[in-house]
Amino acid sequence: MNRPDHDIDHILTQAADRFGTPAYVYATDLITPRIRDLQDKLGRWFKLSFAMKCNPNPGLLSWLEQRIPYIDVSSGGELLLAIDAGWPANRASFTGPAKREVELRRAIQEGLGELVVESPRDAQLANSIAAETGRIQDVVIRIAPDRVPKGFGDQMAGRPSPFGIDIEDAPGALTDIASLPHLRIAGLHIYSGTQCLKPAAIVENWGIFMTIFRDLCERHDLHPDRLIFGAGLGIPYHPGDMPLDLGQVAEAAGPQLDAFKAEPRFSKTELVLELGRYLVGPAGYFVTRVTSIKESRGTRIAICDGGMNSHLAASGHFGMVLRRNYVIHRVGGGEGEEPIDISGPLCTSIDKLGSKVALPRVEEGDLIAIHASGAYGPSSSPVNFISHPTPREILAEGGQLLDVTRIEGCGLSDR
Ligand SMILES: Cc1ncc(COP(=O)(O)O)c(C=O)c1O
Repeated sequence: MNRPDHDIDHILTQAADRFGTPAYVYATDLITPRIRDLQDKLGRWFKLSFAMKCNPNPGLLSWLEQRIPYIDVSSGGELLLAIDAGWPANRASFTGPAKREVELRRAIQEGLGELVVESPRDAQLANSIAAETGRIQDVVIRIAPDRVPKGFGDQMAGRPSPFGIDIEDAPGALTDIASLPHLRIAGLHIYSGTQCLKPAAIVENWGIFMTIFRDLCERHDLHPDRLIFGAGLGIPYHPGDMPLDLGQVAEAAGPQLDAFKAEPRFSKTELVLELGRYLVGPAGYFVTRVTSIKESRGTRIAICDGGMNSHLAASGHFGMVLRRNYVIHRVGGGEGEEPIDISGPLCTSIDKLGSKVALPRVEEGDLIAIHASGAYGPSSSPVNFISHPTPREILAEGGQLLDVTRIEGCGLSDR
């Protein structure tokens, strides 16, 4: 049974009643202990960087700015959102496989901390823009490893990929980039897989990173300012998933990390954990109201005001091979359980948020809450499809609720 938490239910009910549904509620009180735990367990080796692609909500970004040292943006639009939310550009890195000239120019003019170079083309373009603007731009070079250990829910390594410079090509590419006069190689970056709930696989993956970092730094005589570890830390999404044990990760990775940090070449190097979902995913709930109930050929269906259009990931269409239910509960609890399908308002059979979910009897007007919704929510969903209202976004801090809905789309256009 998916047991409701009464504090959360109180917040979700208030948010739905005051601001309407569908809504995402981000409870900052649930993020604070996650940051503290990361710092306690891994802070000896790593600083944190928030990958804002997982949740670019302006209210959340402002809240995080006071609490996390770095941010990673993946477009010019994300950079502007971060700056508007109070992040100085020099605390940002900029990843992404398709950086347009207008974005690179703006980022360099804003004083971007580090450009994450994903290709020789990124480097050449950035070099000529930096030359025009009379700057030297710090870059970290993203390397695409040739393998990722088993156990990662989402893997990018060892096959053709648009991301980063393939490890086979890295020595030549680094030599070329080092010769560009308006770029300074400040470090290296790897992100090769994510959604891993297995400590041993994470530790093995970081071991692969350290081998690559060490080899390339020795070969090119780099004393990097920064090495960025795309963390890969996963979160429990589905009933039965066990949360990742960070203590186990720290214990198993500690000796390797200690030895790495003790190498003279890395004595001044900052190691950075770049992560998104692990920080904010479990702190978010998606709440949708049941618009009607249908009994159809032996199945009870709750048809809700928000579905796949508001929460693509929970519908199973955001990179999931097999659709599995997220953890779902009926707000307010109730006695007994019976299976019910949860669907959304779209005219397509793939608009389903839950299949045979065991819940106390659900009726029209009830609120349904989907857990682990703080990352890859509205910004990863087709919110315009069939022109239903876009979901509200509410920041819950202590007893306070703040409507932080992102009103308009953004993006840096070259027209
Ligand atoms: C380069 C990079 N860094 C970080 C992340 C964040 O991943 P996660 O939210 O799984 O931590 C992503 C996600 O796609 C990414 O592409």
